[in-house]
Amino acid sequence: PVNLRGRHLLWLKDYKPEEIRYLLNLAVALKAKKRAGIRGNLLAGKNIALIFEKPSTRTRCAFTVACLDEGGHAEYLGKSDIQLGHKEDVKDTARVLGRMFDGIQFRGFKQSVVEELAMYAGVPVWNGLTDSYHPTQALADVMTMQECFGDVKGLKLVYVGDGRNNVANSLMVISSKLGMHYVIAAPKELYPSQELLDECRAEGARHGAIIEVIEDPHEAVRGAQAVYTDVWASMGEEEKLAERIKLLKPYQVNRTLMDLADKEAIFLHCLPAVKGNEVTEEVFESAQSKVFEEAENRLHTIKAVIVATIGNL
Ligand code: CP
Ligand code: NVA
Repeated sequence: PVNLRGRHLLWLKDYKPEEIRYLLNLAVALKAKKRAGIRGNLLAGKNIALIFEKPSTRTRCAFTVACLDEGGHAEYLGKSDIQLGHKEDVKDTARVLGRMFDGIQFRGFKQSVVEELAMYAGVPVWNGLTDSYHPTQALADVMTMQECFGDVKGLKLVYVGDGRNNVANSLMVISSKLGMHYVIAAPKELYPSQELLDECRAEGARHGAIIEVIEDPHEAVRGAQAVYTDVWASMGEEEKLAERIKLLKPYQVNRTLMDLADKEAIFLHCLPAVKGNEVTEEVFESAQSKVFEEAENRLHTIKAVIVATIGNL
């Protein structure tokens, strides 16, 4: 039996496929519970800290509502509220918060910070996005695909655009674990790191996953069940936007591109979206677009992560 009590969620690389499936199944159960209007007490008596160096709508609200739905308390700590990394170093902050809270969410720039928090907090630390990974997003994305198609094993997911950002990376990690066919379509300048590719291909080989990176978006999306894109300049790289627009214009997800995918294909985007850049308004608003189901699933998957790691199960 799977037991995730006390575990961190930093990048998902250390999770076994059955542990990821356990989280997805728990998310499905918690979604049904919420739909039935049942409030729970799986987090009664639990306090969680939410550290945000970068802004957030979905992740912040998902952690907050998830916690409240199950009877816990969530404390938001914004970038000007605490001294993290300025007047107080990461390991001291971790040791203080770890004595007061049962779990800590961190969203920020460096992956090394969330790892350092995990090293010293003594309680589970959850990565709510860093420059390198966005693991809770990947869980919601796969849950959404599962709702549309059933088991995700063998499904073709094509990520089009900035092939080396946090979302592209985490989708690669989860695809490798769940035996998916993951294709990144990106210009050479924005290919994922060779190191992550090698790691995910090695892991993927054990679970029947195929990981590919190609330049041509049209070739990439053929036969895809899901076409995914994200902003062309992530938080913290706003100054690169002009250059990215030039580089990524041919990678816009528009009607022409969607029509090359499977007839049943869905469109996914982690949001927030810049319509007219990475996706057209037409595709975003189309029946194929599952972006709001996906956004809602952030709540259920994040709740599953909190409950599984610190809950009264
Ligand atoms: N997708 C996502 O992480 O959204 P927020 O930045 O609003 O949290
Ligand atoms: N890649 C985006 C994802 C936002 C949820 C960013 O890091 O800004």
